[in-house]
Amino acid sequence: MDDLVGIILAAGEGVRMKSRTPKVLHRFCGKELLRYPVELLGKVGVDRIVVVVSRANQDAVQDLLGDSVEYAVQSSKTGTAGAVESAASLLRGESKQIVVLGGDAPLVSEESMQGLINGHVENAPLMSILSGIVQDSNGLGRINRDHGSQRAVMGIIEASDDLNRDGQPVEVNAGVYCFQADWLWENLARITPGKGPERYLTDLAALAVEQGENVAALPANDPAEVLGINNRVELANLEDIQRRRIREHWMLEGVTISDPSSVMIDTGVTLGQDTVLLPNTILLGNTSIGANCEIGPGSVVRDSSIGDDCRVTSSAMENAVMESGVDVGPFSHLRPGAYLESGVHIGNYVEVKESRFAAGAVMGHLGYIGDASIGAKVNVGAGTVTCNYDGKDKQRTIVEDGAFIGCDTMLVAPVTIGAGAITGAGAVVTKDVPSARLAVGVPAKIVER
Ligand code: UD1
Ligand code: CA
Repeated sequence: MDDLVGIILAAGEGVRMKSRTPKVLHRFCGKELLRYPVELLGKVGVDRIVVVVSRANQDAVQDLLGDSVEYAVQSSKTGTAGAVESAASLLRGESKQIVVLGGDAPLVSEESMQGLINGHVENAPLMSILSGIVQDSNGLGRINRDHGSQRAVMGIIEASDDLNRDGQPVEVNAGVYCFQADWLWENLARITPGKGPERYLTDLAALAVEQGENVAALPANDPAEVLGINNRVELANLEDIQRRRIREHWMLEGVTISDPSSVMIDTGVTLGQDTVLLPNTILLGNTSIGANCEIGPGSVVRDSSIGDDCRVTSSAMENAVMESGVDVGPFSHLRPGAYLESGVHIGNYVEVKESRFAAGAVMGHLGYIGDASIGAKVNVGAGTVTCNYDGKDKQRTIVEDGAFIGCDTMLVAPVTIGAGAITGAGAVVTKDVPSARLAVGVPAKIVER
């Protein structure tokens, strides 16, 4: 028997999102909402997790999480109590304690979760609740405490049943619980529906109190942790909080961010020491940036890897790689498969796709390089274009080390420019140019140099 297993509730319809995408698959700082509770449970050492899904989102959720977790299907709209109940056949008799949390509250911290688990048996043998004190209960369930000196928890009052609100700060339920497992499985069936067909898991608090046991509500380290996402306004507000935390984390790690509120860094991004992020810079997905770089202003980097000492000025890159000492921009675009070795310089208005620039190659201005391999120390003149598409297929261009491509050269692929060869300004190169030779004209001919 496990000490502790986890249940993540993700079967709600998420109606308030008004979306075709299931709520828990909406992205939050670059990662699907549902990944947050799964990773959180992993961090506190819960390795058996059941995710409760609906028939409607089952496939999408399984595509996301695969067999890293188990699944239970909640087949009708029976509320959070019904959701937990649908995991009974998998988990009944399998553990001593159970943590339950929603799939829509990504700010819950590892510290608070660990605190809840650690304090659970000691403070309340049957049920512990993570809570937080907020100004506005915003639809969250309120922790009802008695007026005695102990301020004992009496139950949880759902917002829809909560008539007596007086504008005072209020302690609310984060939707994160720790239960004694046997008690949970025995008592779920005692919960009756509220106003609608839904049965509230939160009714278990009053039930435990009726049975003469203590229920604990432990305030989270940061009250923001209790906030959940039910609509897109909450999605934006919580993302704002998390984005600020991410920026502060990186600033404390030695990254300079000027005008922080204009900079967006996804949760999977890593940054090196003394890197500077200039205003309006957006770093997305699985991006890593080394030390001593200057990114921005106005750069957008997605799923890319950038080494040390690089500069990306007002440029966009996606699925691209830069080794160290590379500089790009302003106004250039590195598309998927662009790979720039050390010391490459790409200036303005250059697009690179599925191409490798070897060490020290230079392309200062205007042009398109696609499906190409550019050798070391090649100089690509302004206006150069790889004519890589013949209307049916993509063709490759190879420019060997030390070649010099004159301004406005059209490289009609497939074509190879040999090492040290030169093309004249305006050349339309349709045939291979041997090493060290000169090609000029339209179509280009090899001439003496
Ligand atoms: C719930 C709590 C509320 C708490 C809040 C914290 C109940 C009755 N209320 O309210 O006290 O303050 O969370 O965010 O539990 N779900 C299912 N099946 C269902 C219904 C919901 O799996 O039939 C899942 C949802 O996908 C969601 C979670 O349970 O991940 C919470 O459901 P939601 O409808 O968002 O509850 P709240 O109204 O936010
Ligand atoms: Ca919710």
